[in-house]
Amino acid sequence: MNNLKKQDHSIEISPHNHIPINSIINANCLEVLPQISSNSIDLTITSPPYDNLRDYQGFHFNFDLLAQELFRVIKPGGIIVWIIGDSTINGSETGSSFKQALGFISKGFKLHDTMIYQKSGFAFPSKTRYHQIFEYMFVFSKGKPKTFNPLIDRPNKSQYTFSKKRRKKDGTISHKDDTTRIKVNEYGMRFNIWRYKTGRGHTTTDAIAYEHPALFPEALAKDHILSWSNEGDLILDPLNGAGTTTKMAYMLNRRFIGIDISEKYCKIALERLNLIKERLSSRFPKYIPHVIKFEMV
Ligand SMILES: C[S@@+](CC[C@H](N)C(=O)[O-])C[C@H]1O[C@@H](n2cnc3c(N)ncnc32)[C@H](O)[C@@H]1O
Repeated sequence: MNNLKKQDHSIEISPHNHIPINSIINANCLEVLPQISSNSIDLTITSPPYDNLRDYQGFHFNFDLLAQELFRVIKPGGIIVWIIGDSTINGSETGSSFKQALGFISKGFKLHDTMIYQKSGFAFPSKTRYHQIFEYMFVFSKGKPKTFNPLIDRPNKSQYTFSKKRRKKDGTISHKDDTTRIKVNEYGMRFNIWRYKTGRGHTTTDAIAYEHPALFPEALAKDHILSWSNEGDLILDPLNGAGTTTKMAYMLNRRFIGIDISEKYCKIALERLNLIKERLSSRFPKYIPHVIKFEMV
């Protein structure tokens, strides 16, 4: 494996990693990941190119190698959130999402949860099947998840429930006269289908981000970061696109590494960080995001 040459030396280098923290790295992630120490990443949130459904300037990636490297760099108990949908080719959905889910399991990950990201609209209308408004959010863990901060924001339908004593295992009611009511909290834990308003102005308010054809919503990245990591944790997006993951990591006081093969998208990701840098600099003065260009030597 060739070494990578860093052109910009002005940014913090982690003692544990051979690549800079809090940076957007313009390179093929398969060249950068081998430079990251094993067991160093707390959380990865990412979305791969879907069967070349969209035009990412012609860039591809090797799933098998990526999954293998991700397993190596993720900490024990760390999480990957893999957001993916299938395209339809010759009348059939490709099934890439399922194949990749099984691929991660074969590398050693546990499939911790199969979550759904439901959009408020569809991109490609179809005449022969129902409109496609969801993608998978596969949550993989390397062993037992070390962090879970559940989002408690689902309004409970009722303010009261009955005592559990009333219902027997076979479903019959044992104390028909037991009318004891228990007060429940106003909000309960979220279900695993997350709905987001999508489309211009909703996915993000950063107009420049829409130069990328396949953003996921900022709110989605935020919700996963809050759920599976703590402040100061290291978050990776190896297919960072216009930098939704890195922006939200920065905003939530997590450290981050974002990699994308497209220089254009890296510049957008950096600009989005710069848009919020002024606002956040008093909170996190140590964060100085840069685009780092790696070159093979
Ligand atoms: C679905 S997009 C990610 C969008 C991102 N989640 C966002 O909200 O902006 C996938 C990205 O993978 C990048 N990509 C494809 N192959 C790559 C590779 N080998 N290394 C790094 N990035 C790659 C593409 O340039 C594209 O921006």
